[in-house]
Amino acid sequence: MEIQVVEAYDLAALNEGNRGRSLSDPEVERRVSEVLARMTLAQKVAQLHGSSIQPIEELYLTAGEPSLGVPPSKMVDGPRGARVGVATTFPVAMARGATWDPELERRVGMAIALEAKAYGANVLLAPAVNLLRHPGWGRAQETYGEDPLHVGRMAVGFIAGAQNHLVASVKHFALNSIENTRFEVDVQVDPITLHEVYLPHFRVSVKDAHVGSVMTAYNKVNGSYCAENASLVRDILKGRWGFRGFVESDWIFGTRSTVESALAGLDIEMPHANYYGHKLFEAVERGEVPLTVIDDAVRRVLRVKYAFGLDREEPVAKDVIECAAHAELALEAAHKSMVLLKNEREILPFDPSGLTRVAVVGRLSDLENTGDRGSSAVKSSLVTTVLGGVRDHLPDVQVEHFGSDTLDAGARTRLLAAEVAIVVVGLDYRDEGENIPFIEGGGDRTSLRLSNAQEILVREVARLVPRTVVVLIAGSAIEVRPWLDGVPALLLAWYPGMLGGEAVADVLFGQVCPSGKLPISFARDVRDLPPFDAVSKSVRYDYAHGAWHLDRHEALPEFPFGFGLSYTRFEYSDLTLEKRALDDDVELTVCVRVKNVGGRAGDEVAQLYAGSETARVPRRLCGFGRLSLGPSEQKCLRMRVRGRDLAGYDVVTGDFSLPASRGTLWVGGNSRDLPLFTEYQLEPVE
Ligand code: GLC
Repeated sequence: MEIQVVEAYDLAALNEGNRGRSLSDPEVERRVSEVLARMTLAQKVAQLHGSSIQPIEELYLTAGEPSLGVPPSKMVDGPRGARVGVATTFPVAMARGATWDPELERRVGMAIALEAKAYGANVLLAPAVNLLRHPGWGRAQETYGEDPLHVGRMAVGFIAGAQNHLVASVKHFALNSIENTRFEVDVQVDPITLHEVYLPHFRVSVKDAHVGSVMTAYNKVNGSYCAENASLVRDILKGRWGFRGFVESDWIFGTRSTVESALAGLDIEMPHANYYGHKLFEAVERGEVPLTVIDDAVRRVLRVKYAFGLDREEPVAKDVIECAAHAELALEAAHKSMVLLKNEREILPFDPSGLTRVAVVGRLSDLENTGDRGSSAVKSSLVTTVLGGVRDHLPDVQVEHFGSDTLDAGARTRLLAAEVAIVVVGLDYRDEGENIPFIEGGGDRTSLRLSNAQEILVREVARLVPRTVVVLIAGSAIEVRPWLDGVPALLLAWYPGMLGGEAVADVLFGQVCPSGKLPISFARDVRDLPPFDAVSKSVRYDYAHGAWHLDRHEALPEFPFGFGLSYTRFEYSDLTLEKRALDDDVELTVCVRVKNVGGRAGDEVAQLYAGSETARVPRRLCGFGRLSLGPSEQKCLRMRVRGRDLAGYDVVTGDFSLPASRGTLWVGGNSRDLPLFTEYQLEPVE
């Protein structure tokens, strides 16, 4: 029987309907030139800053020019839903990163953009793609993970989907991975680390997803604030990568100068004119900012507005907001993001038919906990908690709720009668999130552990109820070593969105087979990780973090990058490798057969890693793909690796070069379980 071949990453399919492809449309360019030629300096400068420090009807505006047919832009956050009115709250980006599914992420981007558009927005301030350099980072939940290739492909999916409806704004460019000092910290980074680690996911957002806007970060890089960093913005983003959209600053403290920012390539100061506006006008009048710089900035703004059709927008009916289809999509994303980390004696899934008494334990078990209260927060009409999801799933079972993180004697006695216990622990907006002055909570974490009370609670319940599962709610890694050995099952639910409680119950009671894989590494001990300095005003980012850092230091992770268990099992076989020359590159095509050898349907995320004698890290992700397999079903996954993805940055040429190299390609279900491998040989690409 012919075995189906599945393309792991289909960029053309992801870009279906992406309006960003029109950024190179000559007709758009002609129209831009015609309008630009008719604009006064005042009209040009008015295009280059936000209208007010406060949002207007929850949207951040920039000026239109009705007399010339130039529409305003109307901007709104964010990475987990439209931050306006009520909207569908999706699982946080870190959770969606655990799906390893750019096609799903494309649908999520489309849905969030459509709801934002129904409120009148035409720019979506997402995705956030800063790498998780350390799990303690306050805004970990807003990004997809630690690895540049994985984060880049998830971002491409989101941007391509969202740009079916409006302009996406990939953020925060660049190296924004510390929250408490974000407005001032100066990140020192060498050129190789910058180009091979901290820029690739922005580069593919521009080159592969045709993103319409890039938001600069608050922090400095190598001594210069990002919004006035000519090397990052003018030379790399606009020069080397050929970015054709507009660059906007982050809000308020995101712009630090008038002339320097304009000369560096900052096109729009958000959310209002503090350095631009009349100060920019006067700087042009004084000859400090050439008119050509203003014209290029305005050209970019007009190009995006016309390429994305903001001047001929059809209003979107409000019934798309929190519509059933989007709720189902949020549930699908939650299902596929759940990571089963431990399942001793296969106590999961619980068989509902045999249950009469279930305990649901913990302060978080009945809390509406969809993430932080920063700029990515979303309000939804309905949020199901884990308790609600379990009760809905077990209408005929006595589900007893222990809503505190401490147990009194009576509670301990009652727990003894429970057949299974579901302990919900982890974090909420007070423990991690964006650090916004005057908004409670947020900030970086100083400890990766649970609270003392929660660690005690987990141990106690697991001692009282043999069939105990711990459900972790968080946007990043938790140090589980202090209590893990005493717990038979552990499910990482992240911040699972508005139907997260339902999704957790669906997985625990076997309706859904868990398939999420870690997009970040879980270290056994925080001392195995790179130092995380959330206080100093100057820090250095080294090349390796996450799995690369653990590999280099031969530190055994608690759970490795890419890890996740299932209720079924998969076997890998028949790895093949083909090589072909492209115009300016070389392509390696890897095919691997994956078979579901367990008794039930499930999804598997197969991963491809590369290593060589010249590589800077032992194993680097260079491909992945998700397969849905029925019982005993098998498919071939085809993963294509561009030579450029294996190339190194050459500080002499200032470009990537692929030296003749021999190396190894490994395939398997996670970064430390790679049963198949093959050797590859590459000639230099001139
Ligand atoms: C914030 C965030 C940014 C957000 C912007 C607008 O400070 O850093 O991610 O898009 O302001 O809310």
